[in-house]
Amino acid sequence: MKFFIDTADTKEIKELAATGMLDGVTTNPSLIAKSGRKFLDVVAEICDLVEGPVSAEVTALDAETMLKEAAVLKKIAKNVAIKLPLTWDGLRACRHLSDEGVMVNVTLCFSAAQAILAAKAGAAFVSPFVGRLDDIGQDGMHLIEEICTIYRQYDNFKTEVLVASIRNPIHVTKAAKLGAHVATLPPAVLKQLAQHVLTDKGLAQFLADWQKTGDKII
Ligand code: E4P
Repeated sequence: MKFFIDTADTKEIKELAATGMLDGVTTNPSLIAKSGRKFLDVVAEICDLVEGPVSAEVTALDAETMLKEAAVLKKIAKNVAIKLPLTWDGLRACRHLSDEGVMVNVTLCFSAAQAILAAKAGAAFVSPFVGRLDDIGQDGMHLIEEICTIYRQYDNFKTEVLVASIRNPIHVTKAAKLGAHVATLPPAVLKQLAQHVLTDKGLAQFLADWQKTGDKII
């Protein structure tokens, strides 16, 4: 399973890239706004920090303008993935860009039917938002199960399931059990993955006992 980080905070990306766990980055207009920086500058900086795909989202609603914006974004770096909304215009733009060999992440996916369309449009990634479904009382993970099952039926569906809107480590482990290709994690959730109270307790005990020996490794 690949891990992307869901942030436009370059300081945090740098820190987490150093762990060797990062396979890519996803941004969206809200995350860019939160960074307080210019969109194109942030994306360029992130592309320098991470080798894998860096999703940069268009803001136009019609396919023609989406393609014009995509032309600007894809010039930033080879690893830019154009993020397009799951609308008919987004799908049209996706088909066009995918045919040109451009990596596309179709975002704001909330149903299996939408995910089928993203695959048919040749998207490199589809982003189902699990947390936002959970937030309205629907089962986000059930959607991941449906999409993974459907995609497995068709050899010609090459789209990777990029689980988005992740809120906690359980989302990550459940997505991994279902065979989702990618999870995009808020930095706090990525850090949470390594945490366990018994790890901390066990380590404290081992260190206390080690002190008693008076021994040294180096
Ligand atoms: C994914 O690409 C989106 O940027 C993100 O996962 C949305 O998450 P949110 O629902 O926490 O805003």
